[in-house]
Amino acid sequence: MAEGFVAALPSAGSTAVQEASPAERQQEIVMKLEEKVALTLDQLGIRDPASVQRLFAEVREALLAERQQLVAGGAADEADRIRLAKALRDRWLGRKNGLLSFIGEHWLKPAERDLKPSVGRAFNELRQLAAELEVERLAAQIPIRAPHKAAESPEAGRPISAPAPDLSLPGYRRPLGSIHPITRVQREIEEIFLGLGYRIETGPEIESTYYNFDALNIPESHPSRDDVDTFYLDARTVLRTHTSPVQIRAMQKFGAPLYIIIPGTCYRRDNPDATHSPMFHQMEGLAIDEDITFADLKGTLDYFAKRLLGERTRTRLTPSFFPFTEPSGELAVSCFLCEGKGCRTCKQSGWIELGGCGMVHPEVLRAGGIDPDRYSGWAFGMGIDRFAMTKYDIGDIQLFFQSDVRFLEQF
Ligand code: DAH
Repeated sequence: MAEGFVAALPSAGSTAVQEASPAERQQEIVMKLEEKVALTLDQLGIRDPASVQRLFAEVREALLAERQQLVAGGAADEADRIRLAKALRDRWLGRKNGLLSFIGEHWLKPAERDLKPSVGRAFNELRQLAAELEVERLAAQIPIRAPHKAAESPEAGRPISAPAPDLSLPGYRRPLGSIHPITRVQREIEEIFLGLGYRIETGPEIESTYYNFDALNIPESHPSRDDVDTFYLDARTVLRTHTSPVQIRAMQKFGAPLYIIIPGTCYRRDNPDATHSPMFHQMEGLAIDEDITFADLKGTLDYFAKRLLGERTRTRLTPSFFPFTEPSGELAVSCFLCEGKGCRTCKQSGWIELGGCGMVHPEVLRAGGIDPDRYSGWAFGMGIDRFAMTKYDIGDIQLFFQSDVRFLEQF
């Protein structure tokens, strides 16, 4: 087979695609392939890298199909196995008449200068694939057909005994992925609020200045609007600096009552260092209903903190300011490591700061299309990355975004 290599022509009727059996189809590819490797790329009308890639993909497919067919066909005995394996190897890798040497001679060598790199690359890939056609390895994969049954069984010729697997060999180790620590913390928080009947809502990371600032009662003069702090795409479009704009979008979409949490990626023009990253993550919470008071805020956040960090966790609210809440507070929880005595994790303070919160400003409700005389609400926003750093004792926020498996596989 290998010696008598000829560039066979496709059979006359091959263009009328009728119900060709898999074997016939295979034969057609084989013939076309042999015909093609006898011509140059130019003669084949292949003049751009994309067509080169398609052509080589076809060749690789043919190689794989032939190998598969060889294995599926089985062999009569050990000698037959070797003979079959050799034939396939020679057909592709034979020094003089192998398909690869034709491809090298007719496609690669005379290739136009600007096409050469892509032909070279594809050819190398093909060579690597073909290198797997090692006779011994190939032969071992071909099952030997049972000798007696072959004559009488209607299934004659079908391999029924594969070579016995060597059970003492180590198996393939398929590396398992793990959940990224930020996703892990995000999901923990989501679980707690889902259990309280909140829903998860998301919004765009490319946001208008209206939703990111104006609708949240952040005045034109506010320092956070400065292009030193915010990534502007144009004068009215930013990479959202927080998840709070989704508050407004959700109010407009669903109206009141509304109980949601909003996880998501946010962006600020911070230089990367151990505690800063221009990309980070937040979790926002929002509850709007009739008669929502500061007691709901406090009770819910206290419950949340206990579920997140343990029953003994205490919460602390201190006065603060945000344009979109009135009154506003900072939420801190007693340190989960030292329980408030003071340690390295809480920087000796006994407390870990989680984020901001407050009663939704009437102007913000109005921007969301909700009547502040009928409804009230509370909201919070916390940084997921910083919290994950504290929780897992990670000293450098950059580790989250470097995709170093040695770091990620620890979670
Ligand atoms: N959006 C604020 C920030 O990024 C965090 C925040 C504070 C969100 C108070 C809130 C809130 O919903 O009530 O700093």
